[in-house]
Amino acid sequence: MTLDFAPLEGITGRDFREVHAACFPGVDRYWIPFLSPTSVHQLTPRQLRELDPGPLGCDRLVPQLLTREPADFLWAAQAIGELGYREVNLNLGCPSGTVVSKGKGSGLLRDPDALERFLEAIFAAAPLPVSVKTRIGLEDPAEWEALLPVLARYPIRELTVHPRTRRELYKGEVHLEAFRLAAKLLPFPLRYNGNLFTPADVQRAETAYPDLAGVMIGRGLLADPALIARCRGSARDRAALVAFHEELAARYLASMHPDGAVLPKFKELWLYLSLLLPDERAWKRLRKCSRWADFHPLALDLLQNAVLLEEADFERISQQSANLEASGQPFVSGD
Ligand SMILES: Cc1cc2nc3c(=O)[nH]c(=O)nc-3n(C[C@H](O)[C@H](O)[C@H](O)COP(=O)(O)O)c2cc1C
Repeated sequence: MTLDFAPLEGITGRDFREVHAACFPGVDRYWIPFLSPTSVHQLTPRQLRELDPGPLGCDRLVPQLLTREPADFLWAAQAIGELGYREVNLNLGCPSGTVVSKGKGSGLLRDPDALERFLEAIFAAAPLPVSVKTRIGLEDPAEWEALLPVLARYPIRELTVHPRTRRELYKGEVHLEAFRLAAKLLPFPLRYNGNLFTPADVQRAETAYPDLAGVMIGRGLLADPALIARCRGSARDRAALVAFHEELAARYLASMHPDGAVLPKFKELWLYLSLLLPDERAWKRLRKCSRWADFHPLALDLLQNAVLLEEADFERISQQSANLEASGQPFVSGD
C-alpha cells in the first residue's frame, strides 16, 4: 500500500513538495495540484515550472487536470507525457463554486450521461494511462450508485475516492459505506482519501480494505508534516519540522513579497500546523500579524519551544478556518 501526499491547490506547489520531501522521507508520491488547460493549448511558464519534475522525478509525482473539454484534456495529457510522466489524473472532485458552475471538477458528477460522454472521449484517445480522483456525488451520497457503473466501464489506472459530496466540502463525517461499495464493485485499483489524521487512522484504512492500492493524505500532513514518516515508524523530529518551516520560508521569500504573498501562504499553512499546539491561543496571535517580520519569529519560536500534541487536534479546524476567513484572508477552502 502506498502513502501519497494529496494535491492542495495554493499550498503544495513545487517548492512545498521539494522541501517537504527533503525534510520528511517516506511519502511515495506527491500529487501536483490541478492544472486547468485552456483551448489555447500552450502551457504557461507557471504551469511548466510546476510540471518540471525536478529532484522528485516523474515517478514520484502525479499531475492532475481540471477540465470538461475532452480536446483540452487530451492535448494537456500529451504535453504531460512528453515531459516524462507516465500517468495523468482527472479531477472529478473540486467543489469550488466557480469550478462547479462551469461543469468542471465535481460539477462533472451532476449528470452521469454527460460524464460518460466525457470519459468515452478521453479514454478513446488518451496518450497515457488516466487515473481519476472523485467525490461520490454533488448533492446526495445516493448519487454514487448511478456514478459507479459509469466509472466501471473505463480502464481507469487507479481511482481515488474522497467519500463526500460536493455539498459537504471537507466537513463532517466521510461516507465509508460509499467507499465499501466502490471496493466491492469496481474492477480497478482504489485509493482512499479523507480525514486520515493519525497513523492509527491510516492503519485502520489499511486493515479495513486489504486490497487498497494506497491512501492519500492532505490536511493531516499539513498539520503534522511528519505524519507519513510516523506511519513508517519514525518519531516526530522537531528539528526536521523547524528545517522544513525555515527552508520553505527561504524558498518563498526568494521570489515572493514577504507581507503580500509569503505571509498569507504561511497563515494558511499555520491554520493546520497550529492544530499540533495544545490550544487556539497561538493561532489567534499568529493570524493577527499583518507583517511577515512579526509573524515569522513568533511562528519559529512556537515550533522550537512550544509543547506539541501527540496528534493534531482536528476538532478545532472549522473554528480556525472561520477565523481566517473573517480576518479577510482569501482562503482556498473550496478546492
Ligand atoms: C486548500 C485545498 C486545496 C485543494 N486542492 C486540490 C487539488 O488541486 N486537487 C484535488 O484533487 N484536490 C484538492 N483538494 C482536496 C484534497 O486533495 C483532499 O481530497 C481533501 O483535503 C480531503 O483529504 P484530507 O481529509 O486528507 O485533507 C484540496 C483541498 C484543500 C483543503
